[in-house]
Amino acid sequence: DGDDGYRLWLKYELVKNASLKAEYLKYATFIAQTAEGDIVQSASRELHMGLSKLLGKSVHVTNSFEGKSGGIVLKLESGPDPTQQAEGYRIQLAGGNIVVSSKSENGILYGTFVLLRHMQMRLPVKGLSLASSPKVRFRMLNHWDNPDGTIERGYAGQSLWKWYELPERVDPRYTDYARANASVGINGTVLNNVNASARFMSQEYIVKVAAVANVMRKYGIKTYLSVYFAAPKTLGGLTTSDPLDPQVRAWWKEKVAEIYKEIPDFGGFLVKANSEGEPGPQDYGRTHADGANMLAEAFKPYDGIVVWRAFVYKADPNADRFKAAYEEFVPLDGKFDPKVIVQVKNGPIDFQPREPFSPLFGNMPKTPLGMEFQITQEYLGFATHAVYEAPIFKECLDSDTYVNGEGSTVAKVVDGSLHGYARTLMAGVANTGNSRNWTGHPLAQANWYAFGRLSWDHQLSSEHIAHEWVALTLTENQKASGHIVKLMLRSREIYVDYNTPLGLSRPWMGVHFAPEPWENKGSRPDWTAIYYHRADSVGLGFDRTASGSNALAQYRPQVQQQWNHSDQTPLPYLLWFHHVRWDKKLSTGRSLWAELCTRFYTGADSVVWMQQQWDLAKGSLDPQIYTDVAERLKVQRREAIWWRDAWVLYLQTFARQPIPAGFEPPK
Ligand code: GCU
Repeated sequence: DGDDGYRLWLKYELVKNASLKAEYLKYATFIAQTAEGDIVQSASRELHMGLSKLLGKSVHVTNSFEGKSGGIVLKLESGPDPTQQAEGYRIQLAGGNIVVSSKSENGILYGTFVLLRHMQMRLPVKGLSLASSPKVRFRMLNHWDNPDGTIERGYAGQSLWKWYELPERVDPRYTDYARANASVGINGTVLNNVNASARFMSQEYIVKVAAVANVMRKYGIKTYLSVYFAAPKTLGGLTTSDPLDPQVRAWWKEKVAEIYKEIPDFGGFLVKANSEGEPGPQDYGRTHADGANMLAEAFKPYDGIVVWRAFVYKADPNADRFKAAYEEFVPLDGKFDPKVIVQVKNGPIDFQPREPFSPLFGNMPKTPLGMEFQITQEYLGFATHAVYEAPIFKECLDSDTYVNGEGSTVAKVVDGSLHGYARTLMAGVANTGNSRNWTGHPLAQANWYAFGRLSWDHQLSSEHIAHEWVALTLTENQKASGHIVKLMLRSREIYVDYNTPLGLSRPWMGVHFAPEPWENKGSRPDWTAIYYHRADSVGLGFDRTASGSNALAQYRPQVQQQWNHSDQTPLPYLLWFHHVRWDKKLSTGRSLWAELCTRFYTGADSVVWMQQQWDLAKGSLDPQIYTDVAERLKVQRREAIWWRDAWVLYLQTFARQPIPAGFEPPK
C-alpha cells in the first residue's frame, strides 16, 4: 500500500514516539472553536482530522473553554495590536491550553496549519510561542488552464477544473487543493490562462467559477479570472474594445457587477494585454494605464483589484527584448489607478534557469509592483528534471536594486516596504494538474510548497524550506533527509550547468524542452536561439553594455558596476551581458570554450551524484515514491547528456576547438 503522493505535505502520520505523543495528548482533550464562520470551521475541521491521524484520537469540538484546560483554543483576537497584521497569527500556551489566535478568520486557519505542521515536525509543545504575519498581502497562484482542460506549460496532466461538469458537480479535489494552499498561506487563485478565453466572461462560465469560488472561500482563498481584453467585441458584440469608449466602459462595469452577484468576494482580474499577440489598449492607440484604469473603475464599488502584467516585448530582431518592459512601463509610473498592481516576471526575459532581476523592480516607485515567479518547470525540464526552485526565487528577492541606496532589495520593493504601497503581491504560475500526485514529479511538490512559504515570508532560507518539506512529505529520518536536502539544494546549479551555463539563455524554440540552440527559422525573428546567445566565430554572449544594447543602463550605477566589465562579472551572469571571445581566460583559469565544456560535462555527470543521494535515502522512503523519482532521475541523466552533446557540438562549429582532454567527445 504505497504512498501515491496525493496528500502532499499534509500527511499527518501517526506520532510513534511515546513521550512526544503523551505531550501532544495533554492538549488533545478538546478543540474549542470560539468564533463563528466558515473559515474557522475549516480550521477546526482540519485540526480535528489532523489530530485524529497524528494521535489516533478523535478530539471533540466545543464552542467554549471556560474554566477548562488541556485543549486547543481557536480564538479571534480583539483590540489593536500594531505588531500583528490582519492575517497574522499567534500560537501560545495559556491557562493550560494551546491558544491559536488572530484578528481574522484567515489568521486562525493559518495558525492552525502551523500548529499541525509543528506536530508533523515532531517538535515539542513545551515553551510553544509562535507569531507571524505575512509580508505580502496577495499571495496567489496563477493557473494557465484553458477551458478545454489543457494547461499551457503544464506537465502534471490536465486541468484540475472540470468545467464541463460544473457548477452542479463540485469535485472534492477542489477542497484538497484549497487545503494545500491555505496550509502555506496562499490566499488567491487565478483559475484560467493569461492567454485568456473570453468564454470565462459569459454567464455560463461565471456560475461555474462561482461554484469553485464557494469551495475556495472556506479556506480564505479568493478567486480571480484572467480576462481577454477584446471581450467587449468578441463576446459583447460591440464594435470596439477601446478602453476610452463609453460603451466599452459600461460593458465592463456591468460584467464586473454580474460577477459580484455570483461571487460576492471575487478577487479581481489578471490581464495579459498587447503581449505575444494578445489584444490590448494599444490596439486603439491607448496605453497600458488606460486599459488597466478602465478595469479598475469597474471594480470601484468592490474590493477587487486589477493585476496588469508587464510581460511585453516586440518582434524586432534589432531590439533587445531585455529592455522592452522597462521602456513601456517606466513612463507610466504614477498613472495607474490605486487598485492596479503591475505584475512583473522575476527576470527581464522569461523564467530562464538563471536571469538577472528585472530592472523594473525599484524603478516604478509610484506603482505597486507584484512579483511573478514560475513554479511550473517550463524551462526547467518539465516533469522529468528535479530542480528545486527556492534558490531561484531567493536569488531574485535578495538582489539589491540600490534604488534607495544599499539594501534596496527586490523583496523590499515587492513587500511594499521600500516605496510604501499598501497592495502587495506575489504570484506563482502553478505546477498543478490532475496527476494523482498533483505535480507529476514528486519533488516538484516542493516548489509549490516553497513558493507559498516565501510568499508569506521571503526571509526564510531555501534550506529551511527544503528541510521542512522533506520532513513533512518524505521522511522523518534525519540522515535520509540530509541526503535529499543536499540533492535539492544543488539541483538548480546542476541543471544550469548542463542546460544554460555562464549566463546563456533560451536555447529553445516553441516547446521549451529539447535542446535547440541552433539558428532556426521560427515564426518571429526573436524566437530563435541565436537571438539570445549570439554565437559567432569570435565568441559567445549578448553584449548589453554601452558597446551593445546598453540594457545595463536600466539599472542603478552600483548594479551596473557588478556587471559592466567582463573581467568582474560573476560567471553565472557573464554571457547575459558580454560577448566573450572563445579563447578569453576566465577567473577559473580556463578559456571560455574550456569552461563551457567543463560545465556541460560536470553538470551532466552530477546527475549521477543526484541519483546516489537519492539511493542513500532509499531505506527511509516509501517504495512507490522512491521508484518514481529514481526512474525520473534516469531520464534526467539521459536528457542531461543530450543537452551537453547538443550544445558542445553546436558551439564547436563556431569555436572550432577540440573538446578539452579528459572529456569523452560526444558520439
Ligand atoms: C512564456 C510562455 C507562454 C506564456 C507567456 C506569458 O512565453 O512560453 O506560454 O503565455 O510566457 O507569460 O504570457
